[in-house]
Amino acid sequence: MPDLFRLDGKTALVTGGARGIGEAIVTALLDAGARVFIGDIDPVAGAATAQRLGTGFVAMDVTDSASVDAAVAQVVAEAGALDIAVNNAGIVANKPSEELSDADWRSVLSVNLDGVFYCCRAEGRHMLERGSGCIINTGSMSGHIANHPQPQSAYNAAKAGVIHLTKSLAGEWADRGVRVNSISPGYVGTELTKRGMSNETWRTAWLDSTPMGRVGEPHEIAPAVVFLASAASSFCTGTDLVVDGGYTVW
Ligand SMILES: NC(=O)c1ccc[n+]([C@@H]2O[C@H](COP(=O)([O-])OP(=O)(O)OC[C@H]3O[C@@H](n4cnc5c(N)ncnc54)[C@H](O)[C@@H]3O)[C@@H](O)[C@H]2O)c1
Repeated sequence: MPDLFRLDGKTALVTGGARGIGEAIVTALLDAGARVFIGDIDPVAGAATAQRLGTGFVAMDVTDSASVDAAVAQVVAEAGALDIAVNNAGIVANKPSEELSDADWRSVLSVNLDGVFYCCRAEGRHMLERGSGCIINTGSMSGHIANHPQPQSAYNAAKAGVIHLTKSLAGEWADRGVRVNSISPGYVGTELTKRGMSNETWRTAWLDSTPMGRVGEPHEIAPAVVFLASAASSFCTGTDLVVDGGYTVW
């Protein structure tokens, strides 16, 4: 049974792997036996994390499809193939919607939704050619509910898009050996949530709205990705795995 979760001989790329949830995913995939490449827009943090964990690093900006194509090509050239792709890079913006500029909207959608599509497309082309592969996109509970009290309509819309894009690709590629799933974390302690956690009103609302009464740690999200990347989930595609301390229950 435990062997079902092993990833020996597999190569993975994790976008946004320099820190936070991405870094925990990189660590979990390494623990499961995979060879891992970190893909990140931050070359300093990305290279430092890669050196500390003993992985490869590829500088990439997920909002630029040429950069994404080049990163996937680099991993394939170095490792021979890409078996597992975790499209995890993401940003958040908290502004009332009536004050959101076109640029504000675009910046969130371009990383969180365009970026996931560009990655899936590049990874999918390679995987379809080989007839096998697993893609895991990082959605969010924000794709299921609208967070409160902070405004973040662009983020919520993008994450709902990620979950439905995942299902759409899963349907297209299921009969060609490529599985596409997503995870939807609740609040997790990372740079992304630091500002919110230091705001008394936001923190109180977040914890009161979470049945488990706490935020998660990045290492509590990562095993869900190992499951979706491994033979243990061989009959899962188009699945969104919610890991949120119960937030979406209420
Ligand atoms: N932290 C949470 O509470 C939470 C909850 C649900 C979902 N998520 C999602 O999890 C993912 C990881 O979030 P995190 O909390 O670890 O955030 P984080 O800010 O700690 O890490 C995000 C990483 O993405 C990288 N990145 C940003 N823009 C990029 C780009 N254009 N190209 C390549 N890399 C880029 C950053 O350099 C950073 O390393 C995101 O998709 C986020 O939306 C986070």
